[in-house]
Amino acid sequence: MSDKKKILVQLDTDAQASVFDRVVAVDAGVDFLFTHHGVKPDQAQALIHGAIFTRGPKELKHTAIFIGGSDVLEGEAVLAAVRRSLLPQYGLSVSVMLDSNGSNTTAAAAVRAASKHMDLGQVKALVLGGTGPVGQRVARLLARQGAHVRVGSRSLERAQAVCAEIRAKLPDAKVEAVSTASSSDGPKALEGRDVAIAAGAAGAMLLPAKLRATTKSLHLMIDLNAVPPAGIEGIEVTDKAVTRDGIICYGAIGVGDTKMKIHKAAIAMLFEKNNQILDAEEVYDLALRLP
Ligand SMILES: NC(=O)c1ccc[n+]([C@@H]2O[C@H](COP(=O)([O-])OP(=O)(O)OC[C@H]3O[C@@H](n4cnc5c(N)ncnc54)[C@H](OP(=O)(O)O)[C@@H]3O)[C@@H](O)[C@H]2O)c1
Repeated sequence: MSDKKKILVQLDTDAQASVFDRVVAVDAGVDFLFTHHGVKPDQAQALIHGAIFTRGPKELKHTAIFIGGSDVLEGEAVLAAVRRSLLPQYGLSVSVMLDSNGSNTTAAAAVRAASKHMDLGQVKALVLGGTGPVGQRVARLLARQGAHVRVGSRSLERAQAVCAEIRAKLPDAKVEAVSTASSSDGPKALEGRDVAIAAGAAGAMLLPAKLRATTKSLHLMIDLNAVPPAGIEGIEVTDKAVTRDGIICYGAIGVGDTKMKIHKAAIAMLFEKNNQILDAEEVYDLALRLP
């Protein structure tokens, strides 16, 4: 038995590191949290060398890295730099988790909720607010399961960029960019969709009831916004598989409970081995294993 303390090195890309991520780290059983803010990719090597050259390979599973911050693309760039700095050929590696803005843990919770009701391989989904950190990950996880995914944005170009990113990772992904800029765009984006997931900014209403009435195909709706007004009109934040007008509904708190469990379980998992990289897919696979 090693008596080494569990150290989590938090690399946050924002000027001010996330308090949320720090609280969860403590609640997940971390002994020491080393927080670095405003982290840029070119600073990763020195930080990682500090982590991997201090403890022996057998003890490195007691040190892990958490990458956060509000911008998932910046987080991905830091993750890439962290990976380049590890030396797994000598056993000098530490496990790493990326969860910028809670994107991976929240998306995993939302997609897990959807998987309880539908065969995701057959799903036709619309992800509203699909360009944010959470929406991008929701779209990617659904596409990985074989769903047909429309990525909605007020800017078609931004939605197209997200689809291109997903295709770069998953060449067979069935993703389509749609504009939600004008009121006439809504019915087209929603047409034929059986799942709608709203991952818009806090307090932004993306799917009004009037628009929902333009389609009969919806079977499941998930709203991730907890700040009034709801992202999907008619959903209550506490909804958890509540049926409204024949549609299964989840609200932000209904999903948030699972998100917290996934987040804590993922942090705990970092300390099991020293060679894991937890991005959206790994976090989702973990989510499916949780009770
Ligand atoms: N339930 C949970 O456990 C949990 C955990 C984490 C986050 N969240 C929530 O999940 C949601 C998504 O998080 P995020 O960090 O990805 O959000 P975000 O980056 O703040 O916003 C997501 C997208 O919403 C769109 N948007 C922004 N302002 C808007 C407006 N006024 N009207 C319409 N659309 C607007 C933008 O897309 P375009 O500009 O491309 O249209 C943006 O990319 C947030 O509501 C967040 O609070 C929930």
